[in-house]
Amino acid sequence: MKAVIPAAGLGTRFLPATKVSPKELLPVLDKPVIQYVVEEALEPEGVDEAIIVNSHVKPQIEAYFSVDTEFEAYLCAHGKQELAKRVHEASSLPVSFVYQDAPLGLGHAVLQAKDKMDGEPFFVLLGDYFVPDRLMNVRMAEVSAAHGGASVIAVAPVPEDQVSRYGIIAGEPVGSIEGFDATGEQEGAVWKVTGMVEKPAREEAPSHLFIVGRYLLSPRVMELLEDQTPGAGGEIQLTDAMVRLLEEEEMYALVVDPLEGCDTGTPAAWAATNARMTLASPDADAFREALGPAVI
Ligand code: G1P
Repeated sequence: MKAVIPAAGLGTRFLPATKVSPKELLPVLDKPVIQYVVEEALEPEGVDEAIIVNSHVKPQIEAYFSVDTEFEAYLCAHGKQELAKRVHEASSLPVSFVYQDAPLGLGHAVLQAKDKMDGEPFFVLLGDYFVPDRLMNVRMAEVSAAHGGASVIAVAPVPEDQVSRYGIIAGEPVGSIEGFDATGEQEGAVWKVTGMVEKPAREEAPSHLFIVGRYLLSPRVMELLEDQTPGAGGEIQLTDAMVRLLEEEEMYALVVDPLEGCDTGTPAAWAATNARMTLASPDADAFREALGPAVI
């Protein structure tokens, strides 16, 4: 089973930093953002490959995930075996690449990975967000297994004035996952999805639950994407293909706490994620000291 990670964007929110260096390679502590996403993607049992949808103008991402034996030998020759090991581990992750060279939308990006899917269900992980404990997709797989292999998306409550930024679901709660005694919009609740709208106006939003960016999808979605017409923003939307899927197959949503994950989509969110991850690392004291008492 594969996981698709759309990463073809140009990172305009981070310009000028991203003029020559892809935003996916911005570090959180000592690893690039996309490595956290790839490691999360590979966590559920049965996922054996992460497919990054890249653009040809960002070959540095491939370079990062390619083994560089000369560089590793150089590190070893200079007594840096531990670093060589970490560099090797990152570059030997099971990652492959497909390309999206025009910004035609999330649905179009996902479609580029169709030929690698072997007609199996697949995960999609949006790359501006990662979940440090990597459990969100694992729980989504549990929900899917409990409902005959149905598609499952992660959703979370969002304030009413922000619904127009996201995909919003319609549906009703039908239970909760093991270990969570959840109802309604509480973390761990499971909804049966009856509809979805991409970036609705406030008065047209069917609920306050937004699509977080973690999907476990039926292979049928790939076929539907092939003739999907442009939707919100003139783009080929994954949400629109999922709406069509609902006419043929069941779909469920797992309510998650969005703070379970770390946002890296804007400079401020990325900086906050670095602070959060550093405070949870062995470098926390050094970080507090470097900040000085007056900052936070
Ligand atoms: C995409 C999806 C949207 C989802 C959002 C989460 O939108 O189309 O349904 O809610 O990601 O971040 P985008 O952020 O690409 O506009």
